[in-house]
Amino acid sequence: MELEKTKLPRHVAIIMDGNGRWAEQRNLDRIEGHIAGTESVRDVVTCSREVGVSYLTLYAFSKENWSRPKEEVNKLWGLLQIFLQSELELMQEKDIRFNTIGAIKDLPKKAQRMLANVMDKTKSNRSLMLTLALSYSGRQEILHAIAGLVEDMKKKPIKRLTEKVFTRYLYTSKIPDPDLLIRTSGEMRLSNFLLWQMAYTEILVTDTLWPDFRRDSYLKALQEYTHRERRFGALRGR
Ligand code: FPP
Repeated sequence: MELEKTKLPRHVAIIMDGNGRWAEQRNLDRIEGHIAGTESVRDVVTCSREVGVSYLTLYAFSKENWSRPKEEVNKLWGLLQIFLQSELELMQEKDIRFNTIGAIKDLPKKAQRMLANVMDKTKSNRSLMLTLALSYSGRQEILHAIAGLVEDMKKKPIKRLTEKVFTRYLYTSKIPDPDLLIRTSGEMRLSNFLLWQMAYTEILVTDTLWPDFRRDSYLKALQEYTHRERRFGALRGR
């Protein structure tokens, strides 16, 4: 598939939805959908690196997902640990830096240790930054940023609160705003994902369920993005 490289998004964010439905359609346990979804994660990570997307942020677990049955939640953390173990080598080989956003302190201690280890081992990699949003909530991120800002203000007043200053307090302080948001499985919602950061992000919703969203679907989405005109509120062609 021909991709106009100069028009590719620098940062792609994905709401990976539909694992449960994929499993239900096959009379399988929901976790089987998540396992199949891990293959799609592998595909979009590898493909992003190949085509030259510099930042990929995946919504893997929202703060709201804690209300799912404990069994499913625990299995998801187990799956994350298997993923981290098996993908570290690939990340090193492909120069991929691993990162997380969200309330990581709420995760099981073992998962936290593994995340910290993979982040540390890949910290000098530069070709792609893979960020997993875990126990993430956009509103909580904004509150967390305000709390940090207030703390700093006690030490030294900030003369002018600009967007640039505020951005430094977000989890994503070192990441540019997403150019493209992909949401699988047809729902037209932001679901509390990167609320501040997606003010001007292009949105692409596909009916494909996440476990079926593999390399070809991703390349098609990237190609569609290259045909979009970004205006950031300005007028056409100015
Ligand atoms: C949404 O499908 C998916 C999740 C809540 C979890 C995402 C997890 C993975 C893709 C696999 C693990 C990922 C890593 C990085 C190891 P859903 O369960 O909400 O689907 P449904 O809406 O059809 O029920």
